[in-house]
Amino acid sequence: MQVTMIVNDVEVTREIEGRLLLVHFLRDVLGLTGTHWGCDTSNCGTCVVWLDGEPVKSCTVLAAMAGGHEVRTVEGLAKGAELDPIQQGFIQCHGLQCGFCTPGMMMTTRALLNKNPDPTEAEIREAISGQICRCTGYATIVRSVRWAAVHEAAAAARVSETTESSEAGEIAEAGQPAGSVA
Ligand code: FES
Ligand code: FES
Repeated sequence: MQVTMIVNDVEVTREIEGRLLLVHFLRDVLGLTGTHWGCDTSNCGTCVVWLDGEPVKSCTVLAAMAGGHEVRTVEGLAKGAELDPIQQGFIQCHGLQCGFCTPGMMMTTRALLNKNPDPTEAEIREAISGQICRCTGYATIVRSVRWAAVHEAAAAARVSETTESSEAGEIAEAGQPAGSVA
């Protein structure tokens, strides 16, 4: 059968077997090996991608079911050369150890921040509760997500300050009486 979907903003069409899982479609057909496959029991969550903006375990979705939908993988997180704050957080706070669970963790926690820009530690732990890090604990992962939340909020505040001051400048300029000297 033929399937067409948008993957990381690009439309792709491929001939596939109806039983092909999305995780294998992404990895083996499209070569997007950032999405990992770590179990046969839908437990580990390393395969998490977004389907229409919602995190899903791609080992539980048939590629055919993703037809006509938008998929985003870890390869589609960065904007050009600029890493997403979640990716930066994982670097800054050592959220990745062996890195195997990292793609799924980043997709889940990016989706969390999209809905809840300032999650508590408990909320972060709940969000990733369907995912396993086999390396150690989750402390550095949680810290990475908090880092991203704090830095994203600071960046947004800077942008709004700049916009406000440039708007204030425009208003002041517009308010100059005609012929007046600045
Ligand atoms: S590969 Fe383990 S939950 Fe999908
Ligand atoms: S970093 Fe190794 S499994 Fe999580």
